[in-house]
Amino acid sequence: MTTQATSTKANPATAKLTLNGKDYDLPVIVGTEGETAVDVRKFRDASGAITYDPGYGNTGACSSAITFIDGDKGILQYRGYPIEELARGASFLEVAYLLIYGKLPNKQEWADFSGQITLHTLIHEDMKKFFEGYPSGAHPMAILAAMVASLSTYYPEDAASFNLNITRLLAKLPTIAAFSYKKSIGQPFVYPRNELSYAGNFLNMMFAVPSATYTVKPEVEKALNLLLILHADHEQNCSTSTVRMVGSSKANLFATIASGISALSGPLHGGANQEVIEMLESIRAAGGDHQKFVAQSKDHGSNVKLMGFGHRVYKNFDPRAKILKEAADDVLKALGVKDPTLDIAKGLEEVALRDDYFVSRKLYPNVDFYSGIIYRALGIPTDMFTVMFAIGRLPGWVAHLKEMRDDTTTRINRPRQIYTGPTKRAFVPLSSR
Ligand code: CMC
Repeated sequence: MTTQATSTKANPATAKLTLNGKDYDLPVIVGTEGETAVDVRKFRDASGAITYDPGYGNTGACSSAITFIDGDKGILQYRGYPIEELARGASFLEVAYLLIYGKLPNKQEWADFSGQITLHTLIHEDMKKFFEGYPSGAHPMAILAAMVASLSTYYPEDAASFNLNITRLLAKLPTIAAFSYKKSIGQPFVYPRNELSYAGNFLNMMFAVPSATYTVKPEVEKALNLLLILHADHEQNCSTSTVRMVGSSKANLFATIASGISALSGPLHGGANQEVIEMLESIRAAGGDHQKFVAQSKDHGSNVKLMGFGHRVYKNFDPRAKILKEAADDVLKALGVKDPTLDIAKGLEEVALRDDYFVSRKLYPNVDFYSGIIYRALGIPTDMFTVMFAIGRLPGWVAHLKEMRDDTTTRINRPRQIYTGPTKRAFVPLSSR
């Protein structure tokens, strides 16, 4: 089988694919940043063959105008805006608006949007009872997924309520997350305070107690705002693709986002931020020998990975990790926190980036490598790290779901497979087996 791209007059570019001696002309699609794809949609009808790409490493599952990544150059842009500029100048809610509605809000749009969010931060009082049912050691990501799925029982969806439910979900997710934390440590729930920012309100719900005054430190609020922005979208990652997959069946918003939360919980995806801190802690407990750990992580038989390293798309550096490495230094300094795991992380990075195993495989620190250290400095407990990622990623999931729903050509997602099981055989009754 051979393929070659050619240019024709009628169609600026087509790709020719030869299978079993027969040529197939396939349309070529080019995105606004020059990314090129061969459109294979009609190939199966024409040839009977499917394209094969387990893990979807080279499959464009959709067109999207939300986020652009150039993994070789370390570029990440939301709706055309470089992540570095948004990280410097925007609030997380502005970024949420940008991702979901496609433009930065003007002053009026901002007032309407942020006002609506504060209107919906409370969860139904009956939902508080749900928290009583979970065992005290339950992982907060499991609680988050279940609570979000349960929202559909309170806010059923029709065509008119989709946008309102988006607002409700953005407003309620931090409340649910903070309540699950309060439940896990046996403290009373702290209700939302609408005069605070999105990040500030979350911190207050997490850390305020009835017996003392809690004031959100501006450095903490700023750092959380930054973390949420950096996590807000990352095009067709595992959880977002899950959201698109589930959403393509027209499941309701809450069920769809709950599936995204579940996908995010895995250690190879959002769960990596918790695993990174646990890895750094275990290296510290074992005497701080990061060289030994790096050696282990190169041995495929050991089943050990350098968590927070490697990325399917970034093959040079992850721009989010670059921002967070600097931020980790700044935040720890501003808060007067000394965290030995930051030195271990930097040592690990240095060793790995000089090691041919990591260099040849283009493995660099990803967003999760330094985020946990910052979360910890902010007082967020380790098992809440992935929940923080989910709060950050929510606007991205919602933006992709909305984009998909707004596109009238969307079909239910349904990949094909190559069957490798037994060929047809006769059933043998139990009595004869
Ligand atoms: N430590 C040691 N070896 C690694 C690592 C690592 N962290 N990551 C990849 N490799 C090796 C892998 O064993 C393979 O080696 P070989 O070619 O000899 O078989 C090679 O590098 C290519 O890796 P891959 O598993 O084919 O890459 P992938 O694109 O399928 O997986 C990844 C990407 C992020 C799942 C993987 O790099 C990984 O497991 N990293 C650790 C977990 C992690 O930090 N995840 C967070 C990702 S960023 C945030 C997010 O999106 O959620």
